[in-house]
Amino acid sequence: HKGLFMDKLVVTGGCGFIGSNFIRMILEKEPTVEVINFDLLTYAGNLANLKDLEKNPRLKFFKGDIANKLDVDNALKDGVSSIVHFAAESHVDRSILDSGPFIRSNIVGTQVLLDSARTHNIKRFVHVSTDEVYGSLGDTGFFTEETPLAPNSPYSASKASSDLIVRSYVHTFGFPAMTTRCSNNYGPYQFPEKLIPLFISNLQRNEQVPVYGDGLNVRDWIHVNDHCSGIHAVWRKGRVGEVYNLGGKSERTNLELTHALLNNLQKPHSLIRYVKDRPGHDKRYAIDCSKAEKELGWVPTVVFEEGLKQTVEWYLANADWINSIRTGDYLSYYQKQYGHR
Ligand code: NAD
Ligand code: TYD
Repeated sequence: HKGLFMDKLVVTGGCGFIGSNFIRMILEKEPTVEVINFDLLTYAGNLANLKDLEKNPRLKFFKGDIANKLDVDNALKDGVSSIVHFAAESHVDRSILDSGPFIRSNIVGTQVLLDSARTHNIKRFVHVSTDEVYGSLGDTGFFTEETPLAPNSPYSASKASSDLIVRSYVHTFGFPAMTTRCSNNYGPYQFPEKLIPLFISNLQRNEQVPVYGDGLNVRDWIHVNDHCSGIHAVWRKGRVGEVYNLGGKSERTNLELTHALLNNLQKPHSLIRYVKDRPGHDKRYAIDCSKAEKELGWVPTVVFEEGLKQTVEWYLANADWINSIRTGDYLSYYQKQYGHR
């Protein structure tokens, strides 16, 4: 009987950038896993990110809100054994304009999800967090799992809060959760409000690219597939209650990255426009991920220059995907598939 021996995995936020790449990887690497993609389809959720898998019998879509207990209880009631939790508001600039949705989805949503998961006897729960919870570094040093939490934006504060709630559920209830904290991701299907897809799509149109401040802020870039293989390793091999840092070992200033994009697309440097800095802009993130390497045998494998080149090529080859977001057409994709929104 089909499905009888399936391991049921709920992925929250599977219509977003990293979640959709993760689902694609799991269906490929784990032939006995059935995935339930639980997503609210906020502005960042796009069913078209999984268009190629629409007919896959091991993938089900469940439209729901992690902050709504009824929705979550419904999704978990039928023998789900694991949850990988991506669903969140994810853009720092939006959190500066309005932190409300970040508190609701990232903090309350995680708490509601954990409470339901506990009563449904979930065996493994991976909480996907970010290196931004550690705050900002100077010119030297790295974040380890022992670095104190010191979030600086409403986004990172909401993620740090969710990390602490997860920690308390492990400690208080013996809940089987693990947390990952990863650096900046790049790759296919990233929403074009984030630096790399925004700049590629502007440059394609010969439009300027807005570099915040002096462009000397440093981010550690990791290819989304390396992040996903790290989460996969934590789900399968991680120790309950532990935090695992994941990083790409590819620190670049925003200006270095911008130049690399201009060169890839053969556009003039005159398209750089320096704009007012982001308030509270973290200077530098850098990750020590030796714990995950030693314990899980995971390593980031994509060489940044190669990954960036492939990513640029992907966005050029998938101009329709970006265009449907720029025009807002992507918002009706669900309606076309399911008849209502
Ligand atoms: P994203 O914004 O592309 O996608 C978020 C997804 O979550 C969307 O599909 C959205 O519809 C869904 N969602 C939002 N609120 C929801 C709710 N209340 N209920 C159900 N679904 C909801 O985000 P992303 O870049 O893919 O990031 C995924 C996760 O990884 C986030 O938790 C983020 O904090 C974390 N993370 C991201 C990065 C990065 O570089 N993008 C790095 C480290 C960690
Ligand atoms: P972003 O992709 O928003 O990720 P995060 O802030 O979570 O690291 O931004 C990456 C870096 O690029 C960050 O230092 C802010 C900067 N940035 C710009 O200079 N211009 C832009 O238009 C955007 C979106 C970001």
